[in-house]
Amino acid sequence: MRLAGRSAVVVGGGSGIGRACALRFAREGAGVVVADIHEGRGRTVVEEIAGEGGRAAFALMNVKDEAQVAAGLELAVQRFGRLDVLLLSMAAGYNLSVPDTTPEQWDHVVDTHLKGMYLAGRHAVPRMAASGGGSIIGIASVAGLMAVHDDAAYCGAKGGMIALARAMAIDHARQRIRVNCICPGWIDSPSAEAYFRDRPDPAAARASATRAHPLGRLGRPEDIANAALFLASDEAEWITGIALVVDGGLTCALQVE
Ligand SMILES: NC(=O)c1ccc[n+]([C@@H]2O[C@H](COP(=O)([O-])OP(=O)(O)OC[C@H]3O[C@@H](n4cnc5c(N)ncnc54)[C@H](O)[C@@H]3O)[C@@H](O)[C@H]2O)c1
Repeated sequence: MRLAGRSAVVVGGGSGIGRACALRFAREGAGVVVADIHEGRGRTVVEEIAGEGGRAAFALMNVKDEAQVAAGLELAVQRFGRLDVLLLSMAAGYNLSVPDTTPEQWDHVVDTHLKGMYLAGRHAVPRMAASGGGSIIGIASVAGLMAVHDDAAYCGAKGGMIALARAMAIDHARQRIRVNCICPGWIDSPSAEAYFRDRPDPAAARASATRAHPLGRLGRPEDIANAALFLASDEAEWITGIALVVDGGLTCALQVE
């Protein structure tokens, strides 16, 4: 029970990495607000947590909407008495280069990832400070550290999240609020499955992505939840401003075959 008595908000908690983090935090004793733009998915995860005997509540939240963000974070305080952990795991991306990306697509991707982290941080920091500190965790990507072909807005947004984590880390260290990112490699989640499905040869795309990871498999949402639990817990109390790479060796290999 590494989060006993704590309270967490997981944005994008209805699917994939966010869902795995919400389940893991609840199993470790946290009360969890599952916040998602998709109500059905979010409520299903709340039921899963309750079915395991955990504590959870749902917040309908588009992370781009400041009023919904504020309401979701306040729900954690109302239901669980405090706010200790904020995890950001919203998905958006188009697989386009800069000239092919419309301004609307750019705004959607950057607003979902980077502005979402800013808005959630804006409303989380005072509530965490009132609880004596906290841990903010952005699910960034290896695409925030290294370039991915035809994914310009996504690379820019994820790099921005890593820089924002560092900025917030030094601004709020004295309030005992730690701010970190996790940079996953390919994770076998619904959004990864949709990406492979859209390729001309989905099986070949999946095999090629798998080969790029020296540890020989795609990641699982639970691989990221393990890292997130560590950053959320007191075991990481001297860690702030980092981008923790969890990628099966993807970014340490010049070439894998
Ligand atoms: N899957 C991967 O391979 C991978 C790799 C690196 C980084 N990531 C990052 O991890 C995060 C989660 O990815 P995933 O694969 O679990 O995705 P997913 O599609 O399985 O889940 C994302 C969730 O975010 C919710 N969401 C989308 N827009 C939202 C918004 N505006 N406000 C609130 N909720 C919103 C969706 O409804 C969904 O439930 C993303 O930020 C993604 O970029 C994923």
